[in-house]
Amino acid sequence: MALKVEKLKVNFKTLEEFKKFKEYGIQELSMLEDLEANMVEDHNDSPFYGIYFGDKLVARMSLYQVDAKFDRYFYPPQSYLELWKLEVLPEYQEKGYGRTLVEFAKSFGLPIKTNPRVKSSGFWEKLDFANVDYDMERDRGENPLVWYPEGVEAQH
Ligand code: COA
Repeated sequence: MALKVEKLKVNFKTLEEFKKFKEYGIQELSMLEDLEANMVEDHNDSPFYGIYFGDKLVARMSLYQVDAKFDRYFYPPQSYLELWKLEVLPEYQEKGYGRTLVEFAKSFGLPIKTNPRVKSSGFWEKLDFANVDYDMERDRGENPLVWYPEGVEAQH
């Protein structure tokens, strides 16, 4: 069965599903507060994309488009996607969900930057992500990985 990536809505159901993910944190809590205070409408788009198995959310990632004027990673400088909170629930790992989400992110045709968790480097290598030349001022504590679409290279 083909896996379908969906843009997730900000609502109480989605936020309840998010509690099953290890990386539930300040971003989710702030979305919850905004909902409870009626500061966002139920069903507003969130920066999250996910894959459902039946009606259960089993994989998700967050994607944010960074404006070209802030690009310190790619040449020529351009808008790129920052990908974070990629996570597949334990029983669903190694079944192609992670790959499907990352390939969906690639389909926008923009370069991608992520700051992966330790121990997932084998996964990112399979998906053609590369290390950057570490720049202390730019990267500080991070250890970013990037993906270059055709015609894009590292900024020096
Ligand atoms: N190390 C090396 N290779 C890995 C890997 C890992 N941790 N996880 C997946 N792969 C490989 C798969 O074998 C597969 O290879 P193939 O295309 O040759 O068959 C490819 O990467 C795509 O795998 P996929 O099934 O899409 O991965 P996934 O759905 O399990 O998603 C993670 C990958 C890392 C996002 C997911 O496992 C996850 O959320 N893990 C949470 C915790 C974590 O980071 N664990 C890392 C190991 S401790």
